[in-house]
This record gives sequence, structure tokens and C-alpha cells, in this order.
Amino acid sequence: MGIHLSIRMLSKLLVLLLFHLVVANFVDSLQQLSCHTEESSALLQFKESFMIDKSASRSKGAYPKVSSWKPAGGGNSSCCSWDDVDYDEKTGHVIGLNLSSSYLYGSLDSNSSLFSLVHLQRLSLSYNNFNHSQIPSSIRNFRSLTHLDLSASFFSGQVSSQVSHLSKLTYLNLCCNILENETSPNNPQRLLKLQPSDMRSLVQNLTSLETLYLSFINISSIIPVSLTNLSFLTSLALRQCDLFGEFPVKIFSPQNSEVLSVRYNQDLTGYLPKFNRSSPLISLRVGFTMFFGTIPSSIEKLNSLQELDVAQCNFSNSLVPTALGNLRQLTYLDISASRFGGPIPSWLGNFTKLVYLDFAYNQLSGSIPASFSNLINLEILYLHANNLSGVVDFQMFEKQQNLYQLQLSWNNFEFVAESNIMNATVRQFTILGLSSCNLKEVPYFLRNQTKLEPLDMAVNQLHGELPNWMWNIGKETLLFLDISRNLISGEIPAVIPWVKLQCLRLSFNSFQGRLPIPPSSLLEYGATNNKFTGEISPLLCNMSSLLYLDLSKNNLSGTFPQCLGKFSDGLIILLLGSNSFHGMIPQSYNNRSSLRMIDVSHNQLQGQLPRSLANCVMLEYLVLSNNQFSDVFPIWLGTLPELKLLAMRHNRFNGVIGQSRTNVDFPKLRILDLSYNNFTGEIPPLFPDITVNKSTYMYANISYDLNGFSILQSVAYSITIAVKGLDLYYSKIQEGFAAIDISSNKFEGKIPEFIGNLKELCSLNMSRNILTGSIP
Ligand SMILES: *[C@@H]1O[C@H](CO)[C@@H](O)[C@H](O)[C@H]1NC(C)=O
Ligand SMILES: *[C@@H]1O[C@H](CO)[C@@H](O)[C@H](O)[C@H]1NC(C)=O
Ligand SMILES: *[C@@H]1O[C@H](CO)[C@@H](O)[C@H](O)[C@H]1NC(C)=O
Ligand SMILES: *[C@@H]1O[C@H](CO)[C@@H](O)[C@H](O)[C@H]1NC(C)=O
Ligand SMILES: *[C@@H]1O[C@H](CO)[C@@H](O)[C@H](O)[C@H]1NC(C)=O
Ligand SMILES: *[C@@H]1O[C@H](CO)[C@@H](O)[C@H](O)[C@H]1NC(C)=O
Ligand SMILES: *[C@@H]1O[C@H](CO)[C@@H](O)[C@H](O)[C@H]1NC(C)=O
Ligand SMILES: *[C@@H]1O[C@H](CO)[C@@H](O)[C@H](O)[C@H]1NC(C)=O
Ligand SMILES: *[C@@H]1O[C@H](CO)[C@@H](O)[C@H](O)[C@H]1NC(C)=O
Ligand SMILES: *[C@@H]1O[C@H](CO)[C@@H](O)[C@H](O)[C@H]1NC(C)=O
Ligand SMILES: *[C@@H]1O[C@H](CO)[C@@H](O)[C@H](O)[C@H]1NC(C)=O
Ligand SMILES: *[C@@H]1O[C@H](CO)[C@@H](O)[C@H](O)[C@H]1NC(C)=O
Repeated sequence: MGIHLSIRMLSKLLVLLLFHLVVANFVDSLQQLSCHTEESSALLQFKESFMIDKSASRSKGAYPKVSSWKPAGGGNSSCCSWDDVDYDEKTGHVIGLNLSSSYLYGSLDSNSSLFSLVHLQRLSLSYNNFNHSQIPSSIRNFRSLTHLDLSASFFSGQVSSQVSHLSKLTYLNLCCNILENETSPNNPQRLLKLQPSDMRSLVQNLTSLETLYLSFINISSIIPVSLTNLSFLTSLALRQCDLFGEFPVKIFSPQNSEVLSVRYNQDLTGYLPKFNRSSPLISLRVGFTMFFGTIPSSIEKLNSLQELDVAQCNFSNSLVPTALGNLRQLTYLDISASRFGGPIPSWLGNFTKLVYLDFAYNQLSGSIPASFSNLINLEILYLHANNLSGVVDFQMFEKQQNLYQLQLSWNNFEFVAESNIMNATVRQFTILGLSSCNLKEVPYFLRNQTKLEPLDMAVNQLHGELPNWMWNIGKETLLFLDISRNLISGEIPAVIPWVKLQCLRLSFNSFQGRLPIPPSSLLEYGATNNKFTGEISPLLCNMSSLLYLDLSKNNLSGTFPQCLGKFSDGLIILLLGSNSFHGMIPQSYNNRSSLRMIDVSHNQLQGQLPRSLANCVMLEYLVLSNNQFSDVFPIWLGTLPELKLLAMRHNRFNGVIGQSRTNVDFPKLRILDLSYNNFTGEIPPLFPDITVNKSTYMYANISYDLNGFSILQSVAYSITIAVKGLDLYYSKIQEGFAAIDISSNKFEGKIPEFIGNLKELCSLNMSRNILTGSIP
């Protein structure tokens, strides 16, 4: 999304700021003047070296410009009349070439005939596909070049140092040579690199620069101070360049600065200067950097400002909302994650040009001002994760016919969408966040949504069965559905209809019937705390991308599908506790396993533990309690380097532990519950004396990206252990917590000395064994 907007912004600026080619009105009057033969043929040769491929230019209005380039008979040098070729009236030399968005596909070499057009002053090759060509070093031939635009054209490699020989450049745009990242639109692969030394020569040599766009080039250095010497510079875009160090504040020139973007340079610090009334600043984007200090109240003077992004920086919370009150030209305002407090000012309703408004992750309180209904150009509104409250009547968005992303989640709203009011046919949303909005019914206007990607209605009071039309929402598009923590009952179709779904959260409801089978694209499947019954379909095994599966606390029965072992290649969290599964645990864990958490407690599982569990080298948490396993102690799990918690109470484990002492390792084990088994022999020396950070809780995370939205799911480790005869449930466990429970077994002999050395032990239960001696 961000890239899309940024490219759009840049193309807008292109139109605003780019040179104006002399429109060829003169052609008639100049017909007698012919272009130079060698230049015409150079252009034809250039044309011949490329394919015309529609997929090369995805920009709107693209067309094959070079198609009009044709040789005329009789040596007629006709390039003067070709599309988008500009020539000098007096000399007949080609001086301008605008091949932006021309469907050109192929590589551009240093020996290309293009570089013989040494009189060129303006060259745009943007929005084509040069198939990962390097920027040719012959670019230095263009001594007269004032405008060079090689943006968004799949150039790759090092930016040629020869660019810094083009000392007449006033406009240089190398932005956006990227490969899109399908899983993560905000993190495209950058194709160009610029060496710090080349960056320095660039800004030292190109002293006439007015516009410098280097966004999405991996520069990976500090910003050279000499940039402040570019006294004509008005527009600078350095988005996502891995810049670090301090941004030279002198770059903000009150008379000149029009565009400044340094977004997404996470290690770049800097601060904003005091602004002047005369400042022509149009776009100021410093979001996702470490800019600090205060946002100066003088920002109110920037009455040309159209775009302001100060999201997720280190600004202190002293942003005075009233300081923004004059910025009525704003079309884009992003103040997310900025510790912004108090009510949303109602004068914001006067910012009628706003298209994008993001206030998410702040501490805003009060209600959405009624004046918001005046923001008729709004397309994207993010208010999630604040302390906002009050009734949100969907009618308030009635005039905002272009609104397609609405995020209200994690506030205290009461969202009202009366069915008789809603005009369902009109508005199509791609993003809807209505979590904790006191919804009592699925809003009727969702009925005809065909483009939704994420839909979040978690933590509401949805009750009864879901309406049938629910399964038709966003059939081709839905990626994320969260309806967890409601009061929903009834059954779900046997096969989930959303073909692209990646996250399905049904947990904490009263769903009944068979567990639905989601599409194989699913990464996260949460269905805990419902009333699903019956066996797990083997079709579940088609979910080969699964990272997280939580089916605990249902009434599921039958045996585990054997694929639960196969899954383990990508699966990180597997929670199947508190059901009625029986049989054995699948055997086939392999050494590519990424499992960190397994809980199969409170079932009727039997037999031996699969020895292949020892392949799960990432495993930290293994809960086997309250089953009917009958096996000796799994001493072979001692090789697992990360295992912190092993609970196996209430089973039929038996025998002497640790006969082969050399294997007794368990380097990180902190919590061991062996109670209510049939172990015999001496207490094994299972505990290392390690010191760990005590304040953090133990948890496992999964994270993934859904079309630009990062999803994080984190599961805290929990355990039930007996303390002073009572079973206590700990819903989270500090890293430093250490406990041993070996009670209710048949351990015998003296209590070993090493028990006394376990200084960090928080809980020790050895009762109901046949031990002698005293506790050291
Ligand atoms: C160059 O061509 C592109 C695409 O056809 C067009 O959008 C742009 O306005 C042109 N630039 C100038 C300065 O004419
Ligand atoms: C070149 O072609 C144009 C028409 O395409 C014609 O008007 C002109 O006379 C020709 N010039 C020469 C030198 O042949
Ligand atoms: C683009 O590059 C690829 C890989 O180098 C090559 O196979 C292909 O032929 C190139 N296409 C064109 C049109 O040059
Ligand atoms: C340029 O050089 C490449 C090899 O480096 C060659 O394949 C290509 O034909 C040459 N093009 C021209 C126009 O000479
Ligand atoms: C600056 O440009 C001149 C030619 O215009 C060139 O000789 C010189 O090497 C360039 N300096 C740098 C640092 O690139
Ligand atoms: C795409 O983004 C993801 C998440 O940020 C990252 O892990 C992955 O490496 C990226 N892929 C490419 C090809 O850059
Ligand atoms: C950016 O360039 C630096 C220095 O060349 C390199 O270490 C780093 O891996 C590059 N980053 C990416 C994402 O390519
Ligand atoms: C800026 O320009 C001045 C005068 O041209 C020069 O003395 C100074 O060294 C330059 N500063 C940098 C950092 O290049
Ligand atoms: C909008 O602007 C007008 C004119 O400046 C002002 O009178 C009005 O109070 C403003 N509205 C809000 C809601 O602040
Ligand atoms: C719904 O929208 C359509 C098309 O904009 C309009 O004709 C119709 O009157 C609207 N209905 C209601 C109830 O607002
Ligand atoms: C809206 O959805 C309902 C129920 O799914 C359907 O009957 C109706 O035809 C849909 N209307 C439009 C305009 O798609
Ligand atoms: C322990 O073993 C005895 C007999 O060896 C058996 O009766 C008892 O049920 C076993 N206890 C458990 C908890 O398995």
C-alpha cells in the first residue's frame, strides 16, 4: 500500500515538477528543418533493441511510444515528427526524449545507440522494464543532461559512478527500482545500490540539483553533510535507503523545501526545525525513523502542506493538536503510533481534502466528531488502538463514497449499522476492522462485500448462528477472518469457502459440529474453547503452510491424523489439549521441525512417546499431562537444547530415570512435572543451575504479513502445578520461574544433595514417595 501511494505521489510530483517538454505545435512550421540522419537512425536502432511488452509498464496511460518511430523513404530524417522526441529548432539535434511508460522491455547496454545522442538535455525512461540492466556507464556521454528519470524501470546493481559527471542535472530520479514482495508490500526487494563514496561525489558534483529522488536504493550510510550545500534543492526523497546517523537539519531550507521524505529509515535520527510562514513545503514524511524532539508548533505555518507523515517516530507527546488546525490543504495525514492524546478535534472535519487519515496506536479519547462526515474525499481511515468511545453510526460514513479501508478496532466504540439504513450495494471495502465495537449482529452491509481482505470482528457480542450470507463475503479475496471471543453458536460449513484465507480465528465461541476444513493456504488456525466434536478430517493435512494450530478445549475425538508429524516442518505451535483424542502421537517428526510448543494434555493418548520428538530441536514447551502414556522417562529429550518446560503428570510413566547418566542434559529445563506416575529408583539429577532473566514471560510467537499488514500471534506458556496441595493454574510464567514436582511416584532412597543447590527453585514437591533423609 505504502509503495503504491508513494509511487502515486511521486508521479503526481512528476507532473507537478517535471520539465515541460515543448509541445510539438511547431512541427508544421518547422517541417523544412530535418533532424540529423545519424540521430534518427540511432533512435531506430534503440527502438529495435527492445521488445514491446505490455507487462513492462503497469502505469496508467502507458502506450508503445516508439511505435510511431518509422524510417521514411529517401533518407528522410523524420525523427523530428516522432512522438515524444524533442529537438532543438536551431540545430536539429534531439534534446529531449520522454519514453516514460512505453512498454519497453529488454536490456540497456553501455554500447546502446541511445548514448550517441550526446545533445540530450532531458531523458526519461521511467516505468519500463530494463530487465535488471545496470545503469550504463556511457550515461556520462550526456554532458548536457539536466533531467534524468530512470525510476521504476527495473535497473539494478550499483548506481554508476558516472552519474556524478552529469554536472548540469537539476532533476535526478532513480527511485523505485524494486521487485515487489508479494507477502510484504512494505518490504520490496531493492534492486539498486549506491556506494557511500558515490553518494558523496553525487552531491558534491551535482550542485544544480533541484530534485533528488533516490528512494528504495540501498545506500546504507550516513547522509553526506554536503547535501546541505545543494542550494537549489527543493525536493528530496530518500525513502527506505537504510540511512543512519543524524539527518542534517540544514537541508530544510525555508525558501526552497517542497518535498522531503526519509520514511522507513529506521536508524535515522534527526529533528524538525522551526518552520517559517514563507515555507513552500508540500510534503513532509519522516515516519518510521528515529526523529525525536517535538513537532514544532510552527508547523501551523505550513499552509501549503498536503502530506504529513510523522508516524512511529520518537517525538515526545507534546504535539499540540491545535497547531495542525491550519493545515487545511492536507490530503494525507499519518500520526499513528505517536503518543497522541486527548479528543480528536472537531475542526478536523474542515480538512475536506483528506484522503488518508491514520491516527492508529495513540491514546486518543472521546468520540469521533460528527464533523467527520464532511471528509467526503476520505479513502482510508485508521483509528484503531486508541481509547475512543461512543456510538459510531455507520451513516456517518454515508457521504464518503470512496472510503474503502476502515479500521475502528480496539477502542470502546458501539458500532451501529442498521439494516434498513445501509445501502449495501454501493460501498466495497478492502479492509474492515470492527473488533471490540460492541457488535451484537454481523452488520448487514457486509452481505455484499466482494473485495474484503482482512475482516476483524473479534471481541464483540455476536451471538446465535452466523447468517448464511456470511460465507459469501469476499469469497475470492478474504485473507484474514477473526470472529474470536464472541458468543457465536451453530455449525460452520464443512469446507471453508475462502480460497485465499491465511488466518482463521474462531476461538472462544460456542461453535458446534465438525471442525471445518480450511483452504491449504492457511497459516494460522485458532479454534480453541468451542464445542467442536468428531474426528479431525485427514483433509486437514493439506494445510502445508500452517504455523499455528490451536484446537484445544473442544470435544474432538478419534486419533491424531498422522500428518501432525508431517506438519512439523513449518508448524511452530501445536495445541490440542483438553479434547478426547486417543491412540498414539504421530511418529514422524523430522529434523526440519520448527515446533516450539506442543500441548496434548487432557486427552486419552496412550502408548510410548515417539522417539522422533527428539528431532524437534526448537522445542521449548512440551505438555503431555493427564493422558495414559506408558513409557519410561524420555531421557532422550535431554538433547533438546531449548526445552524449558516438560510436564507429564498423571500418566503411566514408569521405571528408573537416568540409567544412562551421560545423556541427562536438559540444558535449559526450568519446569519439570513428573507427579502422579510410577517412577521408581533414585531422584535423577535433572537440574542445571542456570541464571536467567527473571522479568520476562515465556511465550512463542508467530508473525507473518498479509498484504502489507503484519500479524503477530503470541502464546504465553502456561502450566498447572500443585502448590501446597492445591493445583494452581499459571496463565503465564516468568523466565526465572523454576519448579520440580516429582510427588506421587515411587522414588526411593535419600534426598540427594544437589536439590539443596538449586537456589532458584520456586516450587519443590517431593511428597508421596518413599524418600528418606531431610531436605538439604
Ligand atoms: C512523459 O510521459 C509520461 C507518460 O506518457 C507522461 O505522463 C508525462 O507527463 C510526460 N512528461 C512530460 C514532461 O511531458
Ligand atoms: C520528409 O518527409 C516529409 C513527410 O513525411 C516531407 O514533407 C518532407 O518533404 C520530406 N523531406 C525530405 C528532405 O525528403
Ligand atoms: C532478461 O533477462 C533474462 C535473464 O538474464 C534473460 O534470460 C532474458 O533473455 C532477458 N530478456 C530480454 C528481453 O532481454
Ligand atoms: C552491445 O554489447 C553486447 C554485448 O556486451 C552485444 O550483445 C550487443 O549486441 C551490443 N549492442 C550493440 C548495439 O552494439
Ligand atoms: C565531477 O564531474 C567532473 C566532470 O564534470 C569529473 O571530472 C569529476 O570526476 C566529477 N567528480 C566526481 C567526484 O565524480
Ligand atoms: C519479503 O518480505 C518478507 C517479510 O518482510 C521477508 O522476510 C522476505 O525476505 C521478503 N522477500 C524478498 C524476496 O525480499
Ligand atoms: C544493503 O547494503 C549493505 C552494504 O552493502 C549490505 O550489507 C546489506 O545487506 C544491504 N541490504 C539489503 C537488504 O540488501
Ligand atoms: C560546501 O560548499 C562550500 C563552499 O562551496 C565548501 O567550502 C564546503 O567544503 C562545502 N561543504 C561540504 C560539506 O562539502
Ligand atoms: C470550520 O471552519 C469554519 C471557518 O473557518 C469555522 O467557522 C468552523 O468552526 C470550523 N468547523 C469546525 C468543526 O471547527
Ligand atoms: C442506494 O444507492 C443507490 C445508488 O447510489 C441509490 O439509487 C439508492 O437510492 C440508495 N438507496 C438508499 C436506501 O439509500
Ligand atoms: C447482496 O447479497 C444478497 C445475499 O447474498 C443477494 O441476494 C443480493 O443479490 C446481493 N446484491 C447484490 C447487488 O449483489
Ligand atoms: C503403578 O503401577 C501399579 C502396579 O505396578 C499399578 O497398579 C498402578 O495403576 C500404576 N499407577 C499408575 C498411575 O499408572
